[in-house]
Amino acid sequence: MEKEQEKKMRELSVAGCEVIGEGAVGKVYRLDDETIIKVFAPGVPLEVVQEEKRIAKNAFVAGVPTAISFDVVKVGESYGAVYEMLRAKTLSAFIRENPDSAAEMGKRMGRLLKELHKIEVDTNKFVDVRALFKERVRRMEKFLTKEETDKLTAVYDCLDERNTVMHGDFHPKNVMYSEKNDELLFIDLADMGYGHPLLDLGATCLVMEVFGRATPERSPHFIGLEYKTSLEIWGNILSEYFDAADIKEAKILADIYGQAKFALFPAIIPNMPQNDVMGFVMGARARGFLNKDFDITPALKTSLKF
Ligand SMILES: Nc1ncnc2c1ncn2[C@@H]1O[C@H](COP(=O)(O)OP(=O)(O)OP(=O)(O)O)[C@@H](O)[C@H]1O
Ligand SMILES: [Mg+2]
Repeated sequence: MEKEQEKKMRELSVAGCEVIGEGAVGKVYRLDDETIIKVFAPGVPLEVVQEEKRIAKNAFVAGVPTAISFDVVKVGESYGAVYEMLRAKTLSAFIRENPDSAAEMGKRMGRLLKELHKIEVDTNKFVDVRALFKERVRRMEKFLTKEETDKLTAVYDCLDERNTVMHGDFHPKNVMYSEKNDELLFIDLADMGYGHPLLDLGATCLVMEVFGRATPERSPHFIGLEYKTSLEIWGNILSEYFDAADIKEAKILADIYGQAKFALFPAIIPNMPQNDVMGFVMGARARGFLNKDFDITPALKTSLKF
């Protein structure tokens, strides 16, 4: 099947093309004035690349402000997805160059996320994100105690059923800012799906607050900003998204879902050696979701409306 699809696939060379971005899964090149190509690392299966492109197309059609996606092509031994080139820079880069804009941009991110969460999607076209997390719980089961598995399952089961579209990895490096149009756009939709807004807020909390708690000096590596700037932006996202009276509780809830996502991290690494998974679990028991004192009752008892 893969061979059949490959026959029809356009081949492209990126020799001489300018690299405009580099991330976890590959490199992004400027193809021409109108288009960019995201080339995935060799070994990333064709289905993964097609799935990201499919999500991006469905999102654009559903009204999510993002780049138009074109085709999937072969680049040497790798696959790549061609997108419209956004005449914009990452919000992270913009804030680095304009540090005074951090609070205002945080507020705009909060409004952008709130707008996104008003979109209801066709559940046949997007992934059920809660189901994805519960699958990760199942994959981790043999490394966890029954209490730990139950605790993880409980935070996902207690969420209301929602068809809300969610980005899945919303942070200032996955948002682009067009100065010309004064507009924010989403990129990197690989984790987009539908589900409860708290799953999205949890993912943002993980990247913007939780990661930096133990190692603030690593924040520039994760999101291209100092940890204190990251916290300032996150605080403003929350204050714009929620009513003043709810912010404190919302922050606690986002932390619970961020920490739960982190505890399930080994489940998304292909073929992680068992010893490494156990090492990770031990670390997570010392601090975070798997710690026996980590309290999930705020998630189970919340009456916050979304
Ligand atoms: N449509 C686009 N137009 C202009 N630049 C883009 C576009 N898409 C991506 N970029 C640039 O490429 C960088 C990496 O893109 P992206 O976030 O999609 O990849 P990634 O972080 O490697 O993905 P992943 O998080 O899945 O590993 C962005 O930060 C941005 O600078
Ligand atoms: Mg990215």
